[in-house]
Amino acid sequence: MTKAETIESLGRIRPELLSLAEGKLPRHVAMIMDGNGRWAKLRGLPRSAGHYEGVKSVRRMTELSSDLGIEYLTLYAFSTENWHRPVEEVEILMHLIGLAIEQELPDLIRNNVKIRLAGDLDRVPEEALSRLRKAEHETDVCTGLTLIICISYSSRWEIAEAARRLAGEVAKGSLRPEDISEESFAAHLSTAGIPDPDLLIRTGGDYRISNFLLWQIAYAELKFTDTLWPDFDKEEYAGILLEYTRRERRFGKTSEQLSPSPEI
Ligand code: FPP
Repeated sequence: MTKAETIESLGRIRPELLSLAEGKLPRHVAMIMDGNGRWAKLRGLPRSAGHYEGVKSVRRMTELSSDLGIEYLTLYAFSTENWHRPVEEVEILMHLIGLAIEQELPDLIRNNVKIRLAGDLDRVPEEALSRLRKAEHETDVCTGLTLIICISYSSRWEIAEAARRLAGEVAKGSLRPEDISEESFAAHLSTAGIPDPDLLIRTGGDYRISNFLLWQIAYAELKFTDTLWPDFDKEEYAGILLEYTRRERRFGKTSEQLSPSPEI
């Protein structure tokens, strides 16, 4: 669907969403997908049922982001800390993430979605990793939405890794310490080349960042919703996008500096 058609169909559900057509949408949205376990528990189902249902939300969010012309969507699929979950849950999650990507691959390609991976991938089991790598490889030519899947990811790991690589370059003599800048540091993160998120959404009712994109969200707008990830739908996402278009992003400046009143 084109952006105009998408907004028109959202407007049929909630008329105020038609205003999305006028606002400046974020270039990059990041999401902490939380609440799968509780969603399942509420229904007397195993936690894995929540993760399976969560994949449907991943599909919906990818679809809407792509249809609205958002350039980057980053999803926190599995954190470094998630390795401490029970072995069976870790196995199910890894299997599910690989399987979902494999099954969605034809649609991702058809919709021009480019997959990129971020995280300590050496720890990811071979079966899931080969499926993820295949998707990354086969969508490399896509030019629409970039879908960044953070897996075995933690921000402190990523920052320490960048510091290690920069220190290595200094030790080799190819970099001078005084040449390390915010830009060169960012270029050593796993999100190198991707603009910082403009908007970070966390579902599931908790108000924390959980070691996600700590460097990159310095100026992101934050939105926390109580909705559990499997229940997070396009309408709510669109409502959050609309709220974003109405926030004033000052980047440390004053309102007056952003839109000076005309001289009289
Ligand atoms: C957090 O809910 C969710 C996760 C740790 C996994 C999220 C992964 C998916 C939805 C699959 C992603 C698939 C792709 C293709 C990217 P939780 O288990 O912490 O829920 P709780 O807080 O209710 O226990």
